[in-house]
Amino acid sequence: MEVRAVFLVGFMASGKSSIGQELARRLGWDFVDLDVQIESREGRTVPEIFRERGEPGFRLAETNALRDLLAELRRHHYVVALGGGAFAQEKNRELLRQWPSVFLDAPAAELWQRSLTDGVERPLRGDPEQFAQLYAERLPFYRQASMVVETTGKSLASICIEIEGALQLRGTPEDAASRQNRLRSGTGESQ
Ligand code: S3P
Repeated sequence: MEVRAVFLVGFMASGKSSIGQELARRLGWDFVDLDVQIESREGRTVPEIFRERGEPGFRLAETNALRDLLAELRRHHYVVALGGGAFAQEKNRELLRQWPSVFLDAPAAELWQRSLTDGVERPLRGDPEQFAQLYAERLPFYRQASMVVETTGKSLASICIEIEGALQLRGTPEDAASRQNRLRSGTGESQ
């Protein structure tokens, strides 16, 4: 069956956005960062939403954004980066049950180091102990993704090749041509 969207999941600073952008570029698909979608829908940054409505308010906005995004997936091919907590929510995993998901993993200590230097403000980052504990709590949920990629020491390109191969995203040239035709005629139905 043709794959029309791939969802990247994993903890904070696991590279979901940078790997997602590279994967989308390689495949010629659209890239969507769910946190960016949430910010534009709500007219506020993620930290502002946390400050004004707390985590429950953010989770509600996140699930609504995900539900609306899924309703739009009929006409485009998407690589979607989810925020670090999205796949830990049962409601979101249920919404994504029919779609391929990729858990981008790395040790919590490495993710903590990356989170110090990537310039992103993260309301739930906490201190190194809290960060590692939250990572451990979420691991069983992340492992429910369709596939796991260990990212430590790997280049963006090799991670993308691993995902493309496991999920057969490139297909044959005939697949690509028929996909283009279906997209043009607006009848791309499968995932
Ligand atoms: C969150 C991670 C953030 C963002 C929000 C909540 C989390 O995304 O969605 O701050 O619960 O881990 P990143 O994983 O892109 O940092």
